[in-house]
Amino acid sequence: MAQTFPVQRTCPFAPPPEYERMREQAPLVRASLPGGDVWLVTRHAEAKQVLAGAGISTSPATPGHPNAAFSPDPPTPEEAAAYEQFAIGHFIDLDPPEHGRFRRLLIPEFTVRRVRDLRPGIQRLADRLIDDMLAQGREADLVAAYGLALPSLVICQLLGVPYADREFFQSRTRTMIDPASDPQARHAAMFEIRGFLDDLVTTATAAPGDDLLGRLIAGGQLTRDELVGVMFLLLVAGHETTANMIPLAALTLLRHPDQLAALRANPGGWPAAVEELLRYHSVVDWVAFYRVATEDQEIGGQLVRKGEGLFVLGASANRDERAFERPDAFDVERGARHHVAFGYGVHQCLGQNLARAELEIALRTLFERVPGLRVTMADEELPAKYDGAIFGLKAMPVMW
Ligand code: HEM
Repeated sequence: MAQTFPVQRTCPFAPPPEYERMREQAPLVRASLPGGDVWLVTRHAEAKQVLAGAGISTSPATPGHPNAAFSPDPPTPEEAAAYEQFAIGHFIDLDPPEHGRFRRLLIPEFTVRRVRDLRPGIQRLADRLIDDMLAQGREADLVAAYGLALPSLVICQLLGVPYADREFFQSRTRTMIDPASDPQARHAAMFEIRGFLDDLVTTATAAPGDDLLGRLIAGGQLTRDELVGVMFLLLVAGHETTANMIPLAALTLLRHPDQLAALRANPGGWPAAVEELLRYHSVVDWVAFYRVATEDQEIGGQLVRKGEGLFVLGASANRDERAFERPDAFDVERGARHHVAFGYGVHQCLGQNLARAELEIALRTLFERVPGLRVTMADEELPAKYDGAIFGLKAMPVMW
C-alpha cells in the first residue's frame, strides 16, 4: 500500500518516525496524495542526485509537478491569476537557463566576502534585541523577542526597508508566515507586502542607492515586476527558515550542556556547530524540494518516468546512516557540512552564507550575554509547528 503524505513530526528534535522505516524500505517510496501518486526520496545519495537536477524540473508549469497532487481540483481562476502574478521573479520555481539569469545577478550579493561586511550590522541588531530582553525583566518568549525579530530586522536591512516601516513590515510578514493565521488574512498580508515592495522599488528607481535593490536597478537587467518578485522571494526564503532555526538551535544546545560548555570555552567551534544544527533540525524538510522528472531515468534502482513527481525528504536524507554515523545523535564536532539542509545543485540556498552568519551571531551572542538562560517548559509541552510547512517552535518561554 502506498504511503500517505505528508506525515507529521511528533517531537521537536526528530523527523517524523515514519522516515526511518521508509529509508530502510527503499531510497524511493511511492506515496498517495489526493491528486495523484508521487515518489518520496528518502536517502542522502538519491536526494543529491534528484536535487542535482539532470532530467529533473522544479517548475510548477512542468506537467506532473507534484504540488498539483495536494488537491484533486484545479485552481480557481482567481487563484490561477494570483499564482501567475506571484510567479514573476520567483526564480526558485524556474529551471535553467531562465533560472540562471536571476541567480547570476544575485550571487555577488551573498558571497562570503559580502556577508562578512554585513556581520557588524547583524551583531548590532542581536545586541540591541538582547539589551531589550534584559531590560524587560527576567523572562521572555525567545521566539518573539529574538528568533523572529533578528532575521526580520536583517532582511529589512538587506532589502532597504526604511526604519519607520519596519513595524508594518514585520507584522504583515508574521501574519503571512503564521500557519495559525486565517487564510484570508494571510492572503491579504501577501498582497499588502507585495504592494509595499512595489512602492519600495518605485522609490529606489527614482534614486538607486548603493544597496542590493539599488544595484539590481542600476544593472538594468530586470523588469519592475521581476524586481518586486525577487525581493518577495528573498523575504519569504530568508525569514521563516532562519527564524525557526534560532530558537530550536538554542533549545538543542541547552539540552546538551556539555557541548554548549565546550562552545563557550572555544568559540572557534561555532561554524561546525551551526552545520550540525542545520542537519539535525532540517526545518525545510521537503517543502522546497518538489521536483518532476522530464525524462525516464533510474534513481536508486527505481525507474522514474517522465512526468512523475518527486518530493525529496531533506530531514530523512540528513538522518541517513549511509551518510552520517550515528545520525540521530547531536554532535557539534561531527563535520556535517555535506548535509542537504540548504539543498544541493542549481537551487542550493542562495542565502546560505548569510544564514550561517545570522545563526552563529545569534547563538553566540545569546549564550555569552545571557549565561543563566533556561527553558521553563518541558520539551513535550513546548508548542511546536507540527502542522506548519517549515518546522519550528511557536513559543519558547525562557528565564535567566
Ligand atoms: C537557516 C536558514 C535557511 C535555510 C534552512 C534555507 C534553506 C533553503 C533550501 C533548502 C533551499 C533550496 C530550495 C530548492 O532546492 O528548491 C533554499 C533556496 C533559497 N534560499 Fe534559503 N534557506 C535559509 C536562509 C536563507 C536566507 C537568509 C536567504 C536570503 C536572504 C535565503 C534565500 C534563498 C533563495 C533566494 C533561494 C532560492 C535559490 C534558487 O532557486 O536559486 N535563504 N534555501
